[in-house]
Amino acid sequence: MSSFKHIISAFLALLLCSLTSAYSLVHNYDYTNWYSSFNFENQADPTNGTVDYISLEEAQSSGLTRIIDNQVYMGVENSSIISAPNGRKSIWIESKDSFLHGLLIGDFAHIPGGTCGTWPGFWTIRNDLNAPYGEVDILESYNDLTTNFMTLHTSESCSFNAPADTYLGTLNQQDISCSLDGPGCSAKGPAGSYGAPFNQNGGGVYALEWTSSVMKIFFFPRNAIPADITSGNPDPSTWGLPTANFDSQYGNCDIDAAFPPQTIYFDTTFCGAEAGGKGWTDWSGCAASTKISTCEEFVRTQPQAFDEAYWLINSVKVYQ
Ligand SMILES: *[C@@H]1O[C@H](CO)[C@@H](O)[C@H](O)[C@H]1NC(C)=O
Ligand SMILES: *[C@@H]1O[C@H](CO)[C@@H](O)[C@H](O)[C@H]1NC(C)=O
Repeated sequence: MSSFKHIISAFLALLLCSLTSAYSLVHNYDYTNWYSSFNFENQADPTNGTVDYISLEEAQSSGLTRIIDNQVYMGVENSSIISAPNGRKSIWIESKDSFLHGLLIGDFAHIPGGTCGTWPGFWTIRNDLNAPYGEVDILESYNDLTTNFMTLHTSESCSFNAPADTYLGTLNQQDISCSLDGPGCSAKGPAGSYGAPFNQNGGGVYALEWTSSVMKIFFFPRNAIPADITSGNPDPSTWGLPTANFDSQYGNCDIDAAFPPQTIYFDTTFCGAEAGGKGWTDWSGCAASTKISTCEEFVRTQPQAFDEAYWLINSVKVYQ
């Protein structure tokens, strides 16, 4: 009798679960398929960094990317002194598939964060150059900072100004407008959402929830990843407050008009507009800690500084 009851309640739980769990896995990018799922772009850096992006073939043969146990390692060149105007070898990759709406969940054991000279990103952007420009920067920061910046950039007119008590991050500067002629609408994550503390905690998960009405970004350190993410049945309604809350009820944005299907990107660049210039001298401690006056000189002359500038990726999953 009691086992019958157990069966009934297990059945009801299953039914409830299948009714409420709206998301199913549509793409699992991991060590089994990484190199066939992403293009490694051997291209000039659109952000004008002190970088030399290399092909998949070169990245594999030089060990800049490899599979370590069941994780994808993507690092940067860390043994050579480079002469100007060349940059340090690194990677820029783009997913072959794109997606529209859903959950994008990246599980990272280690990111290139915390290293002076670096400006890495995990982000998405329109897959069709004729579509409106829509970009979602999920994980992006630079130099020795310990906080992440989550930012939207749109060609359509969009703004978001969610009340402070609806998300765990903070409004970055006063960046409410997502318009391309400004810095984008942006939230700053809490301490430890990036950089050395992120890595010391064993990394964590960044998740984007994308619907017709919201772009919410969630950050979970390794020890606080919701069980439904780990078990593969993610339900963002149970995750609590997001870290960034681009919610159209608190803004002026037609999300479907502004964000066409998105392609997934990773890159690790050096210097440029974020890590170089004022990013080097004023917005981070790097000029002082390295005693080298420019980011560019540091990146070219200090290969040993870049041992920690690597991604170690457990998985990137798309649910819809
Ligand atoms: C790129 O940066 C260099 C300095 O490193 C500068 O001379 C050049 O004008 C920049 N180009 C663009 C397109 O920003
Ligand atoms: C470069 O960094 C990796 C870790 O990212 C490390 O295993 C390797 O030993 C470093 N190479 C050199 C030449 O220091």
